[in-house]
Amino acid sequence: MTQTLVTSAKRQLAHEIISGGTGLVLALFMWGHVVLVGSILTGERGFNWMATFLEDYYIAQPTVVAIFTLFLVHAVFAARKIPAQLRERKRIADLAKGLKKSGREKVATRTAHSPFRPHLESMLWIWQVRTGMIMLVLGSFHLILLGMDVFTPLFGDIVGIESSTSMARVGAGLWLPYAILLLCVEFHASVGLYRLAIKWGADLWMSRKTMHRIEQVIFWLILVIGGLTLTVLAGWVEPPLAFLLDGAAP
Ligand code: HEM
Repeated sequence: MTQTLVTSAKRQLAHEIISGGTGLVLALFMWGHVVLVGSILTGERGFNWMATFLEDYYIAQPTVVAIFTLFLVHAVFAARKIPAQLRERKRIADLAKGLKKSGREKVATRTAHSPFRPHLESMLWIWQVRTGMIMLVLGSFHLILLGMDVFTPLFGDIVGIESSTSMARVGAGLWLPYAILLLCVEFHASVGLYRLAIKWGADLWMSRKTMHRIEQVIFWLILVIGGLTLTVLAGWVEPPLAFLLDGAAP
């Protein structure tokens, strides 16, 4: 009996480490992604230089494969926890709603350490599951598209990413799924990092309020840069940093 409990606890810890570790790497990658795709803010020349550099030095090709693998592993391991947690979270949310109606919510449900009320934290978790499901569909589509772009001559004139094909497909309508994906990724990653930090004890040396503020700053910063990148890719706005490459060699 005890042996079974220990084995099950060990397995659960391994799942926590895998889903948390892959989530952390993916979130860090997404910050790098903002810079790489954001190179379009300097104009098509900057974007093409970045893409050619990453492909010529064989950085882009293994990265696409590695990120897609991590993306799927993260989805499988994070999804294993959903049914049990969803039941528990929904119960907390319902309980909080009941207490609110009774007018005793603040006393009964707010903890001393958290800037969130428990039902709000539960809602954040439920939205993390929903955004995760949307990302699984749209992110897989994006990674397959980019995989074909990087490994085959199917899109554009060359094997590899080029500004003309990226801008053409975003302007032709991909801006909409990308805008939804961007919103979901930023929400999912910032709430995920906040929860991961709490899970591994960061609230022992930093208050939850401070962590929540950091999470909000990261969320808005990346969302604004990503949104601007998307409008430039769609051809709606001129690259605002084009002046940086004004004097550069062609
Ligand atoms: C190594 C893997 C990846 C590469 C090489 C890559 C590359 C690109 C490129 C070239 C674009 C410009 C649009 C296009 O060409 O279609 C783009 C846009 C975008 N990508 Fe990725 N991507 C990767 C992984 C991801 C992942 C894992 C996500 C999220 C799940 C993601 C989310 C987005 C979003 C939201 C946009 C829209 C532009 C923005 O607002 O930043 N990408 N990506």
